[in-house]
Amino acid sequence: MSHLETVSPPQIRTADVADAAELARLSAQLGYPCQPIAMRQRLERLAARPDHAVFVASVEERAPLAGWVHVGAGLWLESGECAEILGLVVDAAMRRGGLGRRLIGAAEQWSRAAGFERIVVRSNAVRPEAHTFYPSLEYTLEKTQRVYGKALTP
Ligand SMILES: CC(C)(COP(=O)(O)OP(=O)(O)OC[C@H]1O[C@@H](n2cnc3c(N)ncnc32)[C@H](O)[C@@H]1OP(=O)(O)O)[C@@H](O)C(=O)NCCC(=O)NCCS
Repeated sequence: MSHLETVSPPQIRTADVADAAELARLSAQLGYPCQPIAMRQRLERLAARPDHAVFVASVEERAPLAGWVHVGAGLWLESGECAEILGLVVDAAMRRGGLGRRLIGAAEQWSRAAGFERIVVRSNAVRPEAHTFYPSLEYTLEKTQRVYGKALTP
C-alpha cells in the first residue's frame, strides 16, 4: 500500500504551521517549489489575516497531505470585492477522486460565511485538467489574461 492509499476518505481542515513541509511538497506539484521554512513563514503571515484561509485534505493527522486550497479576499478599485481562489492542488496520486471538488467546496463555504457573493479563480492556460475541472463545478470562463512581471531592483 502506498503512503497515500487509505481506507477512510481524507478530511478537509484548516491548515496549520505543522503542515508547512507537506504544503511545500504539493506546491512543487503546482509548479512552485519552495522550502518548508518559507512555506511556514507564509502560513504564519496568512494565519494572521482573517481575510485569507488555507484548507488541507488530510488523510490522517500528520500523514502526507492529499491537497490544499488557498482562498482570500480580492479588492479591486474598479469592480469591488469578491473571494478569489489563490491556489489549489491535489496530490498527483490522489486526483480524480473528488478531492478537488471538496477543497473548492470548503473555499466556497468560507467565502459565503465571510459574506462574499462571488468567487473567481485565475488559472494558467497550461493546466489542461483545471480547464475541465472548473467548468465541471459551474465556473464559467469570463476572460483570458496575460501576466507580466518585472524584477524590482533597489
Ligand atoms: C485541477 C485539480 C485540482 C483537480 O483535482 P481532482 O481532485 O482531480 O478533481 P475532482 O476529482 O474533484 O474532479 C471533479 C471534476 O472535475 C473534472 N476533472 C478533474 N480533473 C480532470 C481531468 N484530468 N480530466 C478531465 N476532467 C477532469 C471532472 O469533471 C471531475 O468529475 P468526475 O471525476 O466525476 O468526472 C488537480 O487536477 C490538480 O491538482 N491539478 C494540478 C494543479 C492545478 O491545475 N491546480 C489548479 C490551479 S488554478
